[in-house]
Amino acid sequence: MSNSKLHLLFPTAVEVVDNIDIPVEDHDQLLATAYNASYNTGQFNTTKNNYILDTHAPTLRNWIQSRIDNYTKNVMATSSKLKITQSWCLMHKNVVQQLFIHAHPNSIISGAYYVMAPEGSQGIRFHSKSGGHSTPFIDWETDSTCIDQPWTADWNELSVKTGRLILFPSQTYHSVDGQEVNPNVRCVLSFNTWFEGGFGDPSRLQELK
Ligand SMILES: [Fe+2]
Repeated sequence: MSNSKLHLLFPTAVEVVDNIDIPVEDHDQLLATAYNASYNTGQFNTTKNNYILDTHAPTLRNWIQSRIDNYTKNVMATSSKLKITQSWCLMHKNVVQQLFIHAHPNSIISGAYYVMAPEGSQGIRFHSKSGGHSTPFIDWETDSTCIDQPWTADWNELSVKTGRLILFPSQTYHSVDGQEVNPNVRCVLSFNTWFEGGFGDPSRLQELK
């Protein structure tokens, strides 16, 4: 018997948590707010307000903040607090559910909360390489029999549903990659975060505030 063992060092912590007490009024408010008629390719709409949680959905905001607090404590090992900076909704309606690959600069952790995502909604795809679809610097032929291992996979897709929150490090590239027109509405609330009141050790000349 082989005594070989692979260790997966320093994995990316992505948290998935379902809101078991969905604030229906808040969801309705986010769905009914003003959206831009079209954005970029016209495949999706985004809220005109890019600070939507500052003025809408107070119950939901509190729940999301509690989950952020949990993530900072358990995943980032800090008692420092992260505050929500910008927040906005993105809606697909009777289109192919796609979103270009991107990350969230100037943010510590980001979140995607599904205000509406009925059965059959396209999941969120996380990519292992920055730049996602671009050719890696060193590229060799890969064998399809072992390409989907955790250490070789190019991407991993998580399923979404109404009331689900996914928290991830903001530098993690992600996309939505539907292939066919979906007649339903898929609405995601996204947000970024930053340290409340600054961070870093002033005695080591690392303070930022
Ligand atoms: Fe995003």
